[in-house]
Amino acid sequence: MTVIHSIRLGLNIDHVATIRNARGGNNPDPVRAAMLGVESGVDGITAHLREDRRHIRDEDMARLKLEIAKPLNFEMAATEEMKSIALRVKPHAACLVPEKRQERTTEGGLDVVGQHNHLKPYIAQLNEADIRVSLFIEPDRRAIEMAHALGAPVIELHTGTYCEAVAHGDHARSSQELARLNEGAAIAGALGLEVHAGHGLDFATAEKLAEIPEIRELNIGHFIIGEAIFIGLHQAITHMRAAIDRGRSRARPRS
Ligand code: PXP
Repeated sequence: MTVIHSIRLGLNIDHVATIRNARGGNNPDPVRAAMLGVESGVDGITAHLREDRRHIRDEDMARLKLEIAKPLNFEMAATEEMKSIALRVKPHAACLVPEKRQERTTEGGLDVVGQHNHLKPYIAQLNEADIRVSLFIEPDRRAIEMAHALGAPVIELHTGTYCEAVAHGDHARSSQELARLNEGAAIAGALGLEVHAGHGLDFATAEKLAEIPEIRELNIGHFIIGEAIFIGLHQAITHMRAAIDRGRSRARPRS
């Protein structure tokens, strides 16, 4: 029987850096946003150091590690450059994501099956350095089983397709995608993987995801930072926390 744990909320601060970089100066400071996030009750900070440094930069990562009291989740492509930065910064966790230069945001899950030979030793090195590896993947049985075989302790299920279907009012597709996420979480939980989820979540979709009993962490950025423009970061986080808690109160153990 699945035990229902509370859900951690990870705040992704990439888009504070996007706004800062639009003008080239130091404001707004993503580390300040991370600190306010921690004061407002988030359980961790997520930041994606992209190859093109379009938002978060190397010095942001170093400052986040030094100045933030909560766990740091370093989102990164599985490249040699990122591995050496991760081994130097020593974040609590590293979430491996696919990365294409032309994309506006991460477009799909990592191809863990196709990249098996590259990922196996890569993950082993991060594991050895006590960095908790999470693989950002589609809710697909083969990918989940491969993540397990690769020795990653955590997977993060890609919720982008589900959120897009909800946003387009496509009920058939959104319930199909939600069912895939639910089933993927059950498969992963049965394998002993810790399950996280993220990408594109807003209040309503985060609340819905929180009903899935195996999910232990949601990583949310763009919507919270956008909402902060209207109601402030503290309120945006408080509302998100409340939405997740409402969903969680409806989560039931699997029999
Ligand atoms: N999780 C992962 C692995 C991501 O790549 C992203 C986007 O950087 C997020 C969560 C957060 O997505 P969003 O900004 O759409 O909430």
